[in-house]
Amino acid sequence: MGIESIKNVAVIGAGTMGSQIAMVCSLAGYPVTLQDVSAESLEKAKQFLGIQMEKRVKKGRFTAEAVEAAFSRITFTASLHELKEADLVIEAIVEKLDVKRELFKKLDEITPPHAILATNSSTIVSSKIADVTVRPEKVCNIHFFNPALVMELVEVVKGPHTSVETAQTSMDFVKKINKLPVLLNKEISGFIANRILGKLMDEAVYLLENGYASHEEIDLVCTKALNHPIGPFALMDLTGIDVNYFVRMQRYEESGNERDKPARIVQEKVENGELGRKTGKGFYTYDQKAAVK
Ligand code: NAI
Repeated sequence: MGIESIKNVAVIGAGTMGSQIAMVCSLAGYPVTLQDVSAESLEKAKQFLGIQMEKRVKKGRFTAEAVEAAFSRITFTASLHELKEADLVIEAIVEKLDVKRELFKKLDEITPPHAILATNSSTIVSSKIADVTVRPEKVCNIHFFNPALVMELVEVVKGPHTSVETAQTSMDFVKKINKLPVLLNKEISGFIANRILGKLMDEAVYLLENGYASHEEIDLVCTKALNHPIGPFALMDLTGIDVNYFVRMQRYEESGNERDKPARIVQEKVENGELGRKTGKGFYTYDQKAAVK
């Protein structure tokens, strides 16, 4: 099954990532079913995408007609049964292995046997999920970056169970939606970008927790000396400090190594509900009206 067989796309989870991935696919011309268990998330996704796309129309990046057409290609639904005709599913639900496994089992039953089932998980390799399906050769990771409407690069990860054809069709699909795919021919948790970023974050938190410098100073060094577009603390605020917490917690559960535990400062922020831009406060304080979501 090559790229020509992908006619209908489904995205599961209408949160930060899923909503944007759905719009990216729709802007490229694909009919998209965006499914979420929460009616509130679906409503929020509509509003969020409306605001984001209006900004782009004002800047002249898209015509109002193109955006209207893209919206008309997206079906927002709470029912998984609307996925009966999906040729490619991108899962972007909560980062919890048992919940993802349960979902993939259902997807395997509902979607046509030829459909590719991909996960957008930032850490979980698809071999931890593929065994709940009877089509492991059609399961892989397709990992977008936040904000998916803006970020060009997408990591495609081929697990030991993934067929060469599935990996190739996924790479071709990423190109079709005007993104730049990179293939990991062998799976590894965290993939490329987040593994490298994880090391940077760990060091930044170490320097902060041990009083070497403030988060503002550490961010300044990364942006001005290393030429990174954004510092590690500003980035954690953007992606959500809870995401950093869950990633570290998962690593700790896997390795049992104390060093992998979430940093104290990260744990405190999560306990205080200071999750970054989405709550108006993280390492920095934000104007709630300007908060990302
Ligand atoms: P989010 O919390 O913004 O959205 C998750 C959505 O999934 C929610 O709307 C929730 O109602 C829905 N959901 C939960 N269980 C469901 C189920 N069983 N069926 C259907 N919908 C369900 O999460 P976010 O940040 O969009 O992350 C989603 C996935 O994308 C995670 O696996 C994460 O690791 C990955 N990811 C996140 C990035 C980020 O920067 N936030 C970047 C790249 C990947």
